[in-house]
Amino acid sequence: MKIMSVVGARPNFMKIAPFIAAIEATDGLEHILVHTGQHYDDKMSQQFLDSLNIPPPDINLGIGSGSHAEQVGRTMIEFEKVLLDRRPDWVVVVGDVNATLACSVTAKKLHIKVCHIEAGLRSGDIRMPEEINRLVTDRLSDLLLTPDQLSSQNLLKEGVPSNTIKFVGNIMIDTLEKNRLQAKALELDDIINKNSAPCQLGAERKIYGNDFALITLHRPSNVDQKRILSKIVSFLLNKVTQDMPIVWPLHPRTLSRLIEFGLKDDLDNHESIYLLEPLGYHEMMRLNMGARLLLTDSGGLQEECTILGTPCLTLRWNTERPITLRDNGGASVLVGNNIDRIREEYQNTLLMKRAPKRPKLWDGNAAGRCVSAIMEASGLI
Ligand code: UD1
Repeated sequence: MKIMSVVGARPNFMKIAPFIAAIEATDGLEHILVHTGQHYDDKMSQQFLDSLNIPPPDINLGIGSGSHAEQVGRTMIEFEKVLLDRRPDWVVVVGDVNATLACSVTAKKLHIKVCHIEAGLRSGDIRMPEEINRLVTDRLSDLLLTPDQLSSQNLLKEGVPSNTIKFVGNIMIDTLEKNRLQAKALELDDIINKNSAPCQLGAERKIYGNDFALITLHRPSNVDQKRILSKIVSFLLNKVTQDMPIVWPLHPRTLSRLIEFGLKDDLDNHESIYLLEPLGYHEMMRLNMGARLLLTDSGGLQEECTILGTPCLTLRWNTERPITLRDNGGASVLVGNNIDRIREEYQNTLLMKRAPKRPKLWDGNAAGRCVSAIMEASGLI
């Protein structure tokens, strides 16, 4: 049986790595890896392939940046040619990026079966590009592998036949557990000094104890408007730096906006703000393990905090991952981008002591269950 799996953007790599390893450990499966090339900088792509031991993609579509329509359209055109040439039995897509949507639509139109790993997540916010990608992909998929039972329930409520839904657990946690020791062995100060953003090169930075805040931002809703981004920056500069240094690996989109809005100089010149280049997987995990708290708009980091136990302020008004919320036993609390709300929860979080609960089947063994589910759906077991 021939399985073609697809990656496109940074959050896909940690989901596909264990899946490929599980396929390779199973007899009788041929695997083809396609990279759409949505993320193309070495630091957003190649360093993850290398550090997670992902084999070089068999095919790279070279799509690159562009508007959503441009990215999805170009991916569909190029992926269709690959499908016609290689004719896989299954296309496996992960997550909710533009590659996920484009490749599932293209495969389905050629009557090739689609399996979606991380199916059933719903934020309820149709203005998020990822929510559109999730809805369309799940509607078309023949096999929907969910990370938690809330996601399975979402699919049942939408009328997805129950025999196509399988609760397998969170595949990203397979990668976290496999790489945890390697991450733990890294030194915080080394990570910070070896990955300084070019504007801060030369200045030696140091972390004392575990006393730092880690921040990542990349969602258009937080970084694309000057009014919003400047308030967040001012909260960091005027409030958080009074308590502890801030470590901030910059996503390329965020870096461009900080420069465009004239906000970057104040950050560059502040002795308690450590701006970094986009980090590798192990480096990011080590910072997450060490941080006193994390401020983020990333879905994956909310999940990792739930396992690592780092308190997380999620700068969003909703989440497709409610299982990561404190109210459901997780590590995260939604604070949107209202500074009063962020400030209040920031103070609460510094005083709080609690250990999040590990969600069911976030046990490091989800990839094997994904492969078994595909074989079962193909009548092979
Ligand atoms: C994409 C995903 C998002 C995911 C995020 C992780 C979609 C709709 N969004 O958003 O779900 O959380 O990846 O990063 O698929 N850029 C570079 N180099 C790169 C990649 C991007 O410089 O290698 C810059 C470009 O200016 C580009 C911008 O970043 O226009 C945004 O990249 P894009 O792939 O469009 O979306 P992300 O914001 O990264």
